[in-house]
Amino acid sequence: FYPASRGGAGSGTIARDVLGREIKKKEFLETRKPGTHELAQGPKGDPYYLIVDEEGQLASYGLNAVCTHLGCVVPWNAGQNKFICPCHGSQYDRTGKVVRGPAPLSLALAHVDEDDDGNILFKDWKETDFRTGTNPWWK
Ligand code: FES
Repeated sequence: FYPASRGGAGSGTIARDVLGREIKKKEFLETRKPGTHELAQGPKGDPYYLIVDEEGQLASYGLNAVCTHLGCVVPWNAGQNKFICPCHGSQYDRTGKVVRGPAPLSLALAHVDEDDDGNILFKDWKETDFRTGTNPWWK
């Protein structure tokens, strides 16, 4: 038996917390409320948001938290139900779609999955951006 989800190109990146620990999907969902947008370490060490939807399920996509303007990490603002960049005021809706500049582009997407060990896994998003209907700019 060879665990396909570990190592190797194209196998995805395990989501890790601030201490570098692997994030287990079951534990994550048991301890988070619907509507949660929480940062995790994702592909290439970038910060990515994991999202818990209104039904308490893990969203099938994660959002790269790096602002597409000049690269600040964009915090989630629960009160306003959007991401608001502290650097120059760009705004993104809850799906990461840019709704106010100067940011030129929406936040990059990654697929969110679970590996055989129950860890949350990020995988490349190469398909159409469901928010804009265009090809992903981050490919
Ligand atoms: Fe986010 Fe400029 S870096 S608005």
